[in-house]
Amino acid sequence: MGEYRITGGRPLFGEVAIGGAKNAALPILAAAVLGRRSIIHNCPRISDIFCTIEILRALGCVVSFEGNTVIVDTHSIEPCALPHEMASQMRSSIIFAGGMLGRFGWAEMAHPGGCKLGKRQIDLHLQALRALGAQAENEDGIIRAKAERLVGASIVLKTPSVGATQNAMLAAVLAKGITTIENAAKEPEIIDLQNFLIKIGAKITGGGSEKIVVEGVDEKHLGDAEHNVMPDRIVAGTYMTAAAICGGKIRLNRIVYDDIRPIADVLAAGGVEVTAHNDCVEVTASQRFTAVNQITTAPHPGFPTDMQPQITALLATAEGRSCVVENIFESRDRHVAELAKMGANILNIGGRRFDIVGVERLHGAEVSAHDLRCGAALILAGLGAHGETIVTDSVHIERGYDGIDADLRKLGADISLSWS
Ligand code: UD1
Repeated sequence: MGEYRITGGRPLFGEVAIGGAKNAALPILAAAVLGRRSIIHNCPRISDIFCTIEILRALGCVVSFEGNTVIVDTHSIEPCALPHEMASQMRSSIIFAGGMLGRFGWAEMAHPGGCKLGKRQIDLHLQALRALGAQAENEDGIIRAKAERLVGASIVLKTPSVGATQNAMLAAVLAKGITTIENAAKEPEIIDLQNFLIKIGAKITGGGSEKIVVEGVDEKHLGDAEHNVMPDRIVAGTYMTAAAICGGKIRLNRIVYDDIRPIADVLAAGGVEVTAHNDCVEVTASQRFTAVNQITTAPHPGFPTDMQPQITALLATAEGRSCVVENIFESRDRHVAELAKMGANILNIGGRRFDIVGVERLHGAEVSAHDLRCGAALILAGLGAHGETIVTDSVHIERGYDGIDADLRKLGADISLSWS
């Protein structure tokens, strides 16, 4: 088991480059089953990517991962079930359903895992596959889908689920005719997936808007591709928030400012100076953060749920009273009790609303990273706290951050990762 040890109180100065986005790289790797030989650059070296590579290998693909480049060769891929222990570890394993169904007319996998954020249903994924003519069932924790030939259809999502949009896109690539996906998720990662799919030969437009249109192509049109995964907007937002907590001045290179604008706007509202340049951002925090009246998580371009715990950690020491509303996940609140161990004053005021009265400073404590972003929030809290903080269960953080300790050390933080 790994744990991070942090001695708080150091301002952050310097610069780091932001790596590729986990939430873009994972569906792109799943989409690679539709292509022939895909060279995918800028993949973060995190456990979810290693797990996805194991799934691809189990399907018969030849995969290499050197530096940050994954090469997936599907010439010897075979229609078989995803390995249970891998599929059940990650939410994104379900994105293999669309690609496998498209390529082989058949897909089987365990119910996906991932962070425990309340009920995370897969009904929209199954509905999308059924709309395209597949029989898709979820029985005894196993998802099975099959189709003679997928046929393009109109899919209207009840909520703009990121994963269901991606699954529908993948299944539609080889379906006969036109598929429209309405009320589609508009997250930047959807655009990145679309860009990759176009490179392998898919005909697809509208990614990033509410309506995506896929014109099915014949399998012989799909081929090789080379792609650079987009920068991770949540990692960038996490580091920007770290600077807001610690004070100082940092520069993050290799970002897309439009993608982090919802986070930057909140930081600016609390008194942080955020300056965007071409592909980098400078964050200067010279005073205590001021409380922000209400932050409500929402689908893109709203405030991302994946930044909610980190912003809560910041507001825990802001001047004044703030309110955070979690609108995407049923129970994304496991960081709250951990932050309370460090002296935070956060109250659930009903449903998914949290009232936060900022305290002058948190104090170090031993806390547990129950899930990925909970862990990120606790690291940030520790960076600002008085004394030593130990964040246990680092395994959850390693699912989504490639060397967060090294990056923060580079910026001047006192943080180390140790294993027992
Ligand atoms: C993706 C991201 C995750 C992010 C989330 C929301 C990946 C690997 N993960 O997760 O980091 O927090 O988007 O931005 O990209 N829902 C249903 N039925 C379904 C599918 C979803 O009711 O079939 C609900 C979920 O329970 C949740 C909401 O829709 O309340 C949004 O989930 P979704 O957008 O699907 O998130 P993921 O794709 O799982």
